[in-house]
Amino acid sequence: PHPTLIAPSLLAADFTRLAEEVAAIETAGADWLHLDIMDGHFVPNISFGPALVKALRPLSRMPFDVHLMIAPVDPYLAAFAEAGADVISLHPEAGPHLHRSLQTIRSLGKKAGVVLNPATPLDSVAHVLDLTDLILVMTVNPGFGGQSFLEGQLPKIAALRRMIDESGRDIRLEIDGGVTAKTAPLCLEAGADVLVAGTAVFGAPDRAAAIAALRGPGGG
Ligand code: DX5
Ligand code: ZN
Repeated sequence: PHPTLIAPSLLAADFTRLAEEVAAIETAGADWLHLDIMDGHFVPNISFGPALVKALRPLSRMPFDVHLMIAPVDPYLAAFAEAGADVISLHPEAGPHLHRSLQTIRSLGKKAGVVLNPATPLDSVAHVLDLTDLILVMTVNPGFGGQSFLEGQLPKIAALRRMIDESGRDIRLEIDGGVTAKTAPLCLEAGADVLVAGTAVFGAPDRAAAIAALRGPGGG
């Protein structure tokens, strides 16, 4: 079992002071920086692109966990790799050939992730586990921060934990959406080992306390 990693989502940061916000969460104990890329087409919101990822890259030692909510996604994989992403995750619905997209990410020297929307079955990832470093389960519909955690996704998280363990592969299981000190224990109990949190970290006056609270009493 992996130690629990906390990946604050930049989407909830103060956009007028991004460099300070990234430094603050790194000091507060964040493990990864989660970067939500939205195109106003695959999801009904627009965030930021590879230029911002590239600008932030030299300011932090945290691995950059890039969550692509863009379609078509394939034309942009190289740009995010070059911008400094360490993990690049995409939705199966964002392109015609998930297997090929994952091969592309691996060939760019990056870790590859598959994101499952609330209605996306876990079968979507079952036949590409050999190309998958991370499975990201959405516990909200993607597009916005600050939404409520969908508890109905917990059985899927538990089933993915079994699938990963039975595969014997080194695959991280990450949860994204509505993760708070209240819902984090449900995720960890179901077998998650990476937690994304936007509002729960950037909205908290004490980011270190917020991150520690997400790890739970065991400290991860
Ligand atoms: C939603 C994004 C999430 C979002 C999480 O589309 O993928 O990463 O920023 O925000 P919170 O933690 O506030 O639900
Ligand atoms: Zn995300």
